[in-house]
Amino acid sequence: MDTFHSLSKTISFLSLLLSLNLLCVVDIAAFKLETVTFNKGFSHLFGEGNIIRSADDNSVQLHLNQYTGSGFKSSDFYDHGFFSAKIKLPSEYTAGIVVAFYMTNGDVFRKSHDELDFEFLGNIRGKRWRFQTNMYGNGSTSRGREERYYLWFDPSKEFHRYSILWTTNIIIFYIDDVPIREIIRNDAMGADFPSKPMGLYATIWDASDWATSGGKYKVNYKYAPFVAEFTDLALHGCAADLLEEVVTSECVAREDGQLTSDDYASITPKQRNDMKRFRAKYMYYSYCYDKLRYPMPPSECDVDPMMRQRFKDSGRPKFDEKHHRRSKKRREVMDARNYGKQEGV
Ligand SMILES: *[C@@H]1O[C@H](CO)[C@@H](O)[C@H](O)[C@H]1NC(C)=O
Repeated sequence: MDTFHSLSKTISFLSLLLSLNLLCVVDIAAFKLETVTFNKGFSHLFGEGNIIRSADDNSVQLHLNQYTGSGFKSSDFYDHGFFSAKIKLPSEYTAGIVVAFYMTNGDVFRKSHDELDFEFLGNIRGKRWRFQTNMYGNGSTSRGREERYYLWFDPSKEFHRYSILWTTNIIIFYIDDVPIREIIRNDAMGADFPSKPMGLYATIWDASDWATSGGKYKVNYKYAPFVAEFTDLALHGCAADLLEEVVTSECVAREDGQLTSDDYASITPKQRNDMKRFRAKYMYYSYCYDKLRYPMPPSECDVDPMMRQRFKDSGRPKFDEKHHRRSKKRREVMDARNYGKQEGV
């Protein structure tokens, strides 16, 4: 019975792989992932001359120099799925630089876009790298859901896999096989939970005015070019027509049932423990604990009394001031990220 069950699971996984026209299978920690070449899955977003592809087309470098940053995007929009890349961030002096790896449909829905972000915030030499995750649904830009964290490794030394799982009811952000954030949809969230098809984007850009210590440390082009490398990209979802909100091709992964049967869709007890440890140790800001912004934590927040205590002890977190400045600039920031507009260059 068990053998039969696992065999049929294997077969359904294989048929998913076939239906997505897979090129190769790589083993990353617990995940088995099909990857896609740049040419097959992506196109440039801006700064085309600063996008350097490898000969086998499995890797791509995004450069930032004094003239421009650069970015790429998936050629298709997807109705849910699992989206992932191994990323190596620029090393040495990286103050003022932001590398973003995110999903959005903001190009099409300017006022009601959905978005899921990893944003890596430039670094002063010798200090730990920081990053943030965020979520917007249907243009909920006045209700930021930022969390900020330190990384537990130096992301410029080697590749690590960063992934976003997005189903109709669950979003999980992963680093390697560690789930770092889980958002479970509930009815009270309404359209704040992303629901329209999104594309996958990656950009490097000059955010001198806010990225590092609220703009205190600017990009120093003496150290240019700054290079972010992406490899083994995975687009594990169903291409969808963004305007019609219909799936354009027969696609088994449309059923979240398919996604939820894969490795990355369920958090094992060990992973849940890892997630808890990561968040207790490395998270230094969460909107769920920001009483000034949200006197009542939004409905999806699972407020942990221990964590509550930690955030309360430090009072209003220092970076909040920066945060507010930033959210006012949200539109500008998005434009800079998506179109490479750089102020002060
Ligand atoms: C999404 O936003 C648009 C524009 O603000 C609004 O008209 C629409 O009702 C919203 N959708 C949902 C499901 O709330």
